[in-house]
Amino acid sequence: MKINGKNYRSVWLDADGWTVRILDQTRLPWRVEELRLETAEHAARAITTMQTRGAPLIGAVAAYGLALAMRVAPEALHETAQMLGRTRPTAINLAWALERMVARLAPLPPAARAAAAYDEAAAIADDDVETCRLIGAHGLPLLAEIAARRGRVNVLTHCNAGWVATVDYGTALSPIYQAHDAGIDVRVWVDETRPRNQGAALTAFELGAHGVKHTVVADNAGGHLMQHGEVDIVIVGTDRVTRQGDVANKIGTYLKALAARDNGVPFWVALPHSTFDPRVSDGVAEIPIEERAAEEVTHLTGPDADGVLRRVQVTAPGSAAANPAFDVTPARLVSGLITERGRCEASEAGLRGLYPEKF
Ligand code: MRU
Repeated sequence: MKINGKNYRSVWLDADGWTVRILDQTRLPWRVEELRLETAEHAARAITTMQTRGAPLIGAVAAYGLALAMRVAPEALHETAQMLGRTRPTAINLAWALERMVARLAPLPPAARAAAAYDEAAAIADDDVETCRLIGAHGLPLLAEIAARRGRVNVLTHCNAGWVATVDYGTALSPIYQAHDAGIDVRVWVDETRPRNQGAALTAFELGAHGVKHTVVADNAGGHLMQHGEVDIVIVGTDRVTRQGDVANKIGTYLKALAARDNGVPFWVALPHSTFDPRVSDGVAEIPIEERAAEEVTHLTGPDADGVLRRVQVTAPGSAAANPAFDVTPARLVSGLITERGRCEASEAGLRGLYPEKF
């Protein structure tokens, strides 16, 4: 990804060879600020506060967090992995990355763990980049086919599943970038994605930086747009896909899927292998849904007319607020899954066809 002409990944190793750098996503798009992580606790805090976020990215940052810990306390491998694993419950990529790290490091003598941990974290990050590039390649034909019929393609997306949610390229946005780069007239409806506004802030920022035409809409506008033929396809990312193809994603995704089904609009979900959780079947019953602070609902942050970042209250003082951060879209509402290995039906048979080794 490029920001102001500078190439970025969303997590990278500093020139000193050991500290870890991320972009502070609580400041984007108003400030492009890099954060320096020196300990596993720094990494855990960055994940909890959502300075770094997005399912694939939190996996990669946690992997680097474990590498930071291995420099100073290699014998505390399991405790540190557990501490990092408790930061956010819904996205399976976190557990996936930590399990991969522990499997590589546990058999090694403590003195050998730090070097191997950096090596494995880098492999996880590099794998995510290539995986997301391939998701784009496999999603591109869906957009190309609509554009061939209609002259252009209108996509609706929810939350942020772009390059800042992954190490690079994104999942749901990767086909959009590839379509744009291929000269397809692609336009994107960007759900604002309350309460934290990942769509209005991050997806809009990314698409703008890449030159993709886009329009931010209030979360509740999608159904209306679909009724009036303004949406050709919905593509979203995901935090966990179950064995039977249920999809956990940012709160509000389920309502978009319902509206899409009612209006005959295809509803596709883009995921990397690290988001597939074959150990869970019924997403509604089994996926833990993160409940975040009420302040995310009651307050908003943004720049005032002088560019100073301010936090303002938007709810009546004293009113309680609830903040479930994700919901589950049942497989029956999903038109299909876009992965790095190709596209498939959102079902056990579809997933088994692409990921036989996971069953
Ligand atoms: O709470 P967030 O911002 O981490 O939630 C992010 C999402 O819901 C994304 O859609 C999902 O992680 C896929 S990112 C490629």
